[in-house]
Amino acid sequence: MDSILVRGGGALNGQIPIAGAKNACLALMPATLLSEEPLTLTNAPRLSDIRTMTQLLQSLGAEVAAMQDGKVITMASHGEINTRAEYDIVRKMRASNLVLGPLLAREGHAEVSLPGGCAIGARPMDIHTDGLAKMGAEIDLRDGYLYAKAGAGGKLKGAVIDFPFASVGATENILMAATLAKGTTVINNAAREPEIVDLADCLRAMGAQIEGDGTSSITIQGVDSLHGATHKVVTDRIELGTYMLAPAFCGGEVELLGGRIDLLEAFCEKLDAAGIDVSETDAGLKVARRNGRISAVDVTTEPFPGFPTDLQAQMMALLCTAEGTSVLEEKIFENRFMHAPELIRMGARIDVQGGTAKVTGVEKLKGAPVMATDLRASISLILAGLAATGETTVSRVYHLDRGYEHVVSKLRGVGADIERISDK
Ligand code: UD1
Repeated sequence: MDSILVRGGGALNGQIPIAGAKNACLALMPATLLSEEPLTLTNAPRLSDIRTMTQLLQSLGAEVAAMQDGKVITMASHGEINTRAEYDIVRKMRASNLVLGPLLAREGHAEVSLPGGCAIGARPMDIHTDGLAKMGAEIDLRDGYLYAKAGAGGKLKGAVIDFPFASVGATENILMAATLAKGTTVINNAAREPEIVDLADCLRAMGAQIEGDGTSSITIQGVDSLHGATHKVVTDRIELGTYMLAPAFCGGEVELLGGRIDLLEAFCEKLDAAGIDVSETDAGLKVARRNGRISAVDVTTEPFPGFPTDLQAQMMALLCTAEGTSVLEEKIFENRFMHAPELIRMGARIDVQGGTAKVTGVEKLKGAPVMATDLRASISLILAGLAATGETTVSRVYHLDRGYEHVVSKLRGVGADIERISDK
């Protein structure tokens, strides 16, 4: 398995281009199943998760072609579609469950493997299945698969669905399913993430009738069919936030091309409180540390527009060298502090009690061999290594390839001393 070697020390200066959002693209791709006509996505990120979704859609009978080195993806789902999403692919990535709603809406039935365990928590699918049941679907769990069948006439029907929690994936699944349902569906307590708005924009371009996306109540008027469209994937706010932290860790000034504050307001407020300046430029956002050492801040993760859980690991790594003590509360996933023991190996002072981590800043972290435990943990260790003394080797970097395209060249482009060590 490959690893990443970083040598800490230098300030970072220059520009980093931000890719299209992984999490948006993973929801947009299954939307191809809702139409017989081609769907083209531009600004797609080049990531292994996108290749996994490609494989899954191909296994269902969709045609998927990547062009311009993967930045443009054209999909077509005409003709016969296989309705079984196999465990072998689904287990690789939880977002595979996003084919359930579209398959059910299109074919009236679907068999989708449950994704299984995930390092950051249990992540069940009850909110997805309860919502689809309200739309008339019968859903059974057998042999690890969800067997779903739409009601009378093989068509889902509109319903008022009140989510117990604003689940991102459940909002996306129900949103897609409802576009072809009979009648009107209302999702209350819907997720408000920019990726939901991006999906709704794409579905509207395909002829869907959707209102209220970006608020906690979304109304979808079902239509008979959807048509083809071309859609540009929204900027990846998590990649953006991650690289905004690079100069906060290392000093210097970095411009994030394509960056937008409205995607990350709660995060930007915390950066400001920590002593990091963010300003808008013609091409995106510019970030620099105000003084020598950043200040401690308390952070609680929440659904959008709150502080994103997907930036918690990176923020914790940064706060390891802040002046004072920070308290981080993880409210979305029950087991998302696995990066803490790795940061402790680098000299951090972190006390984890359940969903709360107390981080007492030290002057400097020290390089060490560490292990990536999940996608966001892996990049947090790389950033910590860039600000630490000596060398840090991050192993198990396949996690990184799931969510950060060209990470070595992007960080090298701003002067980081980083290389990928191939195991071959
Ligand atoms: C998406 C993102 C992920 C991000 C998360 C929260 C994608 C591909 N992934 O994941 O990067 O960290 O949003 O912002 O977009 N839950 C249930 N029952 C359900 C569904 C969810 O209990 O049926 C719980 C989960 O266990 C978790 C919480 O709700 O604790 C959040 O999950 P959800 O918002 O659904 O996240 P994902 O869509 O899986």
